[in-house]
Amino acid sequence: MRRVLHAFAALADLGEEIAETDDFEEMVRSALHIVLGALGIRRGVVAEFERDSSTMRVVATRGFGQSFPPTASTVLKIGRAGATQTNGSRPHAASKHELSHFEQEIKDQFAGEAEFVMPLVVRGEIVGAILLGGKASAEDFTAEDREIIRSLGRHIGVGLHNHRLLREVERRAEENRELYDNLKGIYKDTVRAFAAAIDCKDKYTQGHSERVGKYSEIIARELGWSEEEVEGIAVAGYLHDIGKLVVDRDIINAPYPIDAKKSSELNRHPAAGYEILRPIRHPFADIPLMARHHHERPDGRGYPDGLKDEEIPVGAKIVSLADSFDAMTTDRPYRRRRVFSEVIADFRRNAGRQFSPPVVAALCRAILKEARGETRPRTIMRLLGKDYVDEQSLPALEQLISDLESGTYMAAGQL
Ligand SMILES: [Fe+2]
Repeated sequence: MRRVLHAFAALADLGEEIAETDDFEEMVRSALHIVLGALGIRRGVVAEFERDSSTMRVVATRGFGQSFPPTASTVLKIGRAGATQTNGSRPHAASKHELSHFEQEIKDQFAGEAEFVMPLVVRGEIVGAILLGGKASAEDFTAEDREIIRSLGRHIGVGLHNHRLLREVERRAEENRELYDNLKGIYKDTVRAFAAAIDCKDKYTQGHSERVGKYSEIIARELGWSEEEVEGIAVAGYLHDIGKLVVDRDIINAPYPIDAKKSSELNRHPAAGYEILRPIRHPFADIPLMARHHHERPDGRGYPDGLKDEEIPVGAKIVSLADSFDAMTTDRPYRRRRVFSEVIADFRRNAGRQFSPPVVAALCRAILKEARGETRPRTIMRLLGKDYVDEQSLPALEQLISDLESGTYMAAGQL
């Protein structure tokens, strides 16, 4: 009676162990100790059967000393019994014959060392085995002992089984992650290829889309966007002019300011871009909308929809500013680029009309930080070229930032 009570107490302990510990090997070690303690056995091993390699891996061992069994990292090769388990991803239930074969193999491996071998089988699947030495009292195992070992063994078996399932889930999750990363890589490569194709069509603005992507990214980061959102806005920057692919090449490449008719043809490109991008399932939402609205203006005088400030998606405002900033700071066929002080003056004049003030302030802050060497890498400085942002313009830049950020600027009616 006392022994039965002891065994029940041990079972309860074991259940708790399995429920509480997230260290699998620790759990198995405690389980083994409980089994040994409950039956007065000095030594034992719990080994896990690894289906793919048909081996037994020792998970916990006690009382065998140095010579036996092999250390925890050692594996025991199991022959045919294992091989029958490896067929496909769903293991079939082990037959009686296979089970006894498996049992015999383990006994052979441990000949003379283990008196009691119990295969652990869960849902017909071999998950491992418990091997026990003789009782300290040198008595034989009774039927009752065997029953207790079997009960405890079932718990350990379930633990091993769950552990195996967990590892399988983790492995699949890892595979999915890799697959997702691959897809994302393909998406990014495709986006860049498109950006290159867009820029190819426009021979005067080489690298424009790439730079707009970079500037948009920097502005969004300065505005505190999450890395995922920043990645999205970079894509929007790369693709904002994709609609130009449907505009006549001569119009895009006109070496002089174009007339009204040609200009309305050119102005189709945001809406055309939206139509091109809309059917694509982008990993970042709203990319088609950012392309559509990158020529809208807060004062409502933009196109294609004449949206007002709060109606324009922030992403589109960012891309719009990045786009104009690159246009101002690169040479075009009919004009040289502006000097930096003129860019600041343009920002001041057009904040609230053409550009969103908080977005302008963000770009200015990013420029200022780079100019002062406070941030790395200095992407804007690299894209603008050495010495473009001159030391003398920095006070004006600072003043603009503080005006844009202060309420007085808004109250003064300058927006
Ligand atoms: Fe555009």
